[in-house]
Amino acid sequence: MCGIVGYTGPREAYPIIIKGLKRLEYRGYDSTGVALQNGGLKVYKKKGKVAELEDSIVGKDLHSNVGIGHTRWATHGEPSDRNAHPHQSSSGRLAMIHNGIIENYNQLKKELINKGYTFSSDTDTEVLLNFIEEIKKNNNCSLEEAVRVALKRVTGAYVILLLDSEDPETIIAARKGSPLVIGVGKGEHFLGSDASPMLEYTKEVVYVNDYELAIVKPDELILKNLGNEKITPYVQKLDIELAAIEKGGYEHFMLKEIFEQPQTIYDCLRGRLDATEGTITMSGIQQYAEQIMNANRIVMVACGTSWHAGLIAEYIFEELCRINVEVEYASEFRYRNPVINKGDVIIAISQSGETADTLVAIENAKAKGAIILGVVNVVGSSIARMSHAGAYTHAGPEIGVASTKAFTAQLAVLTMIALKIGYIKGTIPHKRYMHLLKELQEVPEKVAWTLKHSDNIRALAEKYKDARDFLYLGRGYNFPVALEGALKLKEISYIHAEGYPAAEMKHGPIALVDENLPVVFVATKDSYHEKVISNMQEIKARKGKVISVITEGDDASTALSEDVMIVPEADEILAPMLSAIPLQLLAYYIGVVKGCDVDKPRNLAKSVTVE
Ligand code: G6P
Repeated sequence: MCGIVGYTGPREAYPIIIKGLKRLEYRGYDSTGVALQNGGLKVYKKKGKVAELEDSIVGKDLHSNVGIGHTRWATHGEPSDRNAHPHQSSSGRLAMIHNGIIENYNQLKKELINKGYTFSSDTDTEVLLNFIEEIKKNNNCSLEEAVRVALKRVTGAYVILLLDSEDPETIIAARKGSPLVIGVGKGEHFLGSDASPMLEYTKEVVYVNDYELAIVKPDELILKNLGNEKITPYVQKLDIELAAIEKGGYEHFMLKEIFEQPQTIYDCLRGRLDATEGTITMSGIQQYAEQIMNANRIVMVACGTSWHAGLIAEYIFEELCRINVEVEYASEFRYRNPVINKGDVIIAISQSGETADTLVAIENAKAKGAIILGVVNVVGSSIARMSHAGAYTHAGPEIGVASTKAFTAQLAVLTMIALKIGYIKGTIPHKRYMHLLKELQEVPEKVAWTLKHSDNIRALAEKYKDARDFLYLGRGYNFPVALEGALKLKEISYIHAEGYPAAEMKHGPIALVDENLPVVFVATKDSYHEKVISNMQEIKARKGKVISVITEGDDASTALSEDVMIVPEADEILAPMLSAIPLQLLAYYIGVVKGCDVDKPRNLAKSVTVE
């Protein structure tokens, strides 16, 4: 989320920064901005993509040898000119860009307001910047010292780059939890969220670590920890092509996004879930908790993969909150003249926040008095704005057309909402609630484990790539996972695949089963497990090829399966976030071995803004 670039040296900074920002646009493109040292600070920023900023400042004096630039994926504050980075401090002396989230910014903001500060944006960045300026003023210290003191008070994640108009050659940088690379040239330095902005100028880079602070001048790079001790920069030589680094070294965005899931789920839980205190902080949901709790029904409205997340949420909400839930295809719901009563709660689930059918469906429901909650990935998108409240999924920009990391983040958010409402309503016993919170916190680690144990899936792809059809089966929480697995395979490899409830296959699909049909069971250990094992027997008896997603150590399923993909043990409510992962990989690798364009599958689009 958010791309950052910096340059200090003898060259013209602006073209380097603009080119670098274009390469980092995969990280977000809600707004763009640059700050240049040019006899004082010149800040240009604009809502929209890098090219829009460029067009808007043609003819300006952009000469400068030192500058910073930012492409934003909005978190705090809608995408707008005023929320765009760089931000300037109250005095105008400092300019700063930021990637990350300052979680305690509200507290810091209150302190600053009490001291008379006013703010011109909604961002956490402007708060941190003025906090740094206040410390500098109060302690009469260097900027470097003020940054150090400020960062000790900050919770959350950040990479910051700072310019000081009174020290025009220096860039101060610091990181925790977000990436920062410094390129070392001859008498010049480059900074970036990844190495792509500097690749044609230098292959020598320093990866800055958490809690490190860099003082970067044209011919000097000083690295320190927050205790003011110097650290020797470890210079590494890059051996990568430009195209590869744009995908973070992955062959495709889809694979990168699959592998990002431990981090994206973590980002989604961060600052919200506190398993020790037993709290879930979601202010938008809190605001409507009473209405949700007392709703006669909740309707999940979505399309595609997001609809599958809704189906899983149906099971979770009914179990934990004891509220009647319906899950609707937005395209059907909007035209069906559905019965909507005042106070019905509609949850719109959407990665892009722009899917036309979902948008109109909630617009109609809102007009009839329903409460609209959005579970959306793209901040400031139409669905997010149309909703009364909601919770962002914080999965970062998803570029691969087939949704992967957005799906698991939707599950994480929907689970948190159900836990929060169920707990307030009293439909989840305290012990179970605390247990689920703890398990939910462990999901990112378990996803990482699943990815580490997925090496065999490429070979499975080779083995099954020529199948004409696939059947995906699951029960309970894993039934929608079977649907999602089948959808992924269709989207990416163009192989026909159907998802079915495992028991229901007896009423039709079983007629398809022969020795040529791979049947993928989503068979993690849960309360339905024994029944799923019986269904496996039924397929095996008809010579179908059973491939199973199983819980590690499940010998009974292994004995019945031709091939297995393993996940670690987890509560059945949380299992879909794990069992979906091998199915994403299976679809991805089959697509790859069949030579398909997995990031841009034919006829599909990332965001469907037509009905
Ligand atoms: C398109 C995408 C899918 C996505 C669906 C819904 O079909 O290709 O990946 O699941 O739209 O999109 P949304 O942005 O509303 O989640």
